[in-house]
Amino acid sequence: MKKQLFGNIYGKEVYKFTLTDGKVSAEIVTYGGAVRALYVPDKDGKIKDVVLGYETLEEYRVNDGYLGALIGRVGNRIGKGKFSLNGREYVLAKNDNGKNSLHGGNSGFNDKVWDYEIIGEKLKLSYVSADGEEGFPAELKVSVVYSVEDGALKIEYEAVSDGDTVINLTNHSYFNLDGEGSGDILDTVIRIDADKITPTDKELITHGDFMSVENTPHDFREPKKIGKDIDCKTEQLEFAGGFDTNYVLNGTGFRNIATAVGTKSGIVMDVYSDQAGVQFYSGNFLGERKGKNGSVYNKRGGFCLETQGFPNAVNCQEYPSQILKKGDKYRTVTAYRFR
Ligand code: GAL
Repeated sequence: MKKQLFGNIYGKEVYKFTLTDGKVSAEIVTYGGAVRALYVPDKDGKIKDVVLGYETLEEYRVNDGYLGALIGRVGNRIGKGKFSLNGREYVLAKNDNGKNSLHGGNSGFNDKVWDYEIIGEKLKLSYVSADGEEGFPAELKVSVVYSVEDGALKIEYEAVSDGDTVINLTNHSYFNLDGEGSGDILDTVIRIDADKITPTDKELITHGDFMSVENTPHDFREPKKIGKDIDCKTEQLEFAGGFDTNYVLNGTGFRNIATAVGTKSGIVMDVYSDQAGVQFYSGNFLGERKGKNGSVYNKRGGFCLETQGFPNAVNCQEYPSQILKKGDKYRTVTAYRFR
């Protein structure tokens, strides 16, 4: 494993680690646990970097969009930035248009310098989130293990708390399977193994509802280009300006939940997860910015498959609970396998 200094922030040194199995290589940054690069061979054996990222640490700190970042304590939105637990109301920062809480608040896990430990060929990042951080109850000890094996980047998340709390960790990589900076992802073909989604209101907040994908642009049960139906005039697509939807995944356990194919590169990515949901986000809010290697990123320049619990579950009894009880262990695994 290669270790390089990436910069300094908040009085701490930040490192970039390179993990490889000889075929696929991943760069992980200890600021925000970000997956900065993911090098994969294309159909001709040429190496392509299939995730969006920045050249410098400062760009990670100042830009929006959560490129490659580890998200927590709670991924996606919590409506009105509040929830009740054990009879007490908790108030969070309203960092999403001043109305709702998004991706852990003003300074979520994407904005922390994580401690690191090298365990053989694996990289373990750890962070202790203090009781009350960003408004969340209880001290939470989090560790995330990254490894590259058999053509796959695997991310294993674990957490324990010293009191009851809420948790929903994920990774916010923007994939472009034809190579980062190669334009939009509308020609990427994707399949998502889900019969239902959890629809949102116009502020992108879910309210405990389910909606069948049948006869809607959201049906990706058979492989389909992301761009095929993205501009259809449906309420859900108009609210988000494209896909920005939690899919209710079929099946349980660690399983193949989605597959995407870069039509130019021939790179196929199979996503495996034990999660109940995945946020399929087509990068609609990604404003123009400078990326790595002189690349320029624009709207829909990458897509995310954020494996997760359902958005706003802490306020919706209809959805699987995201409450972590004192002393219990939270554990979830996602892998992105390339062929
Ligand atoms: C996604 C979310 C989008 C947007 C994006 C960050 O996970 O679904 O609505 O907030 O993060 O720009």
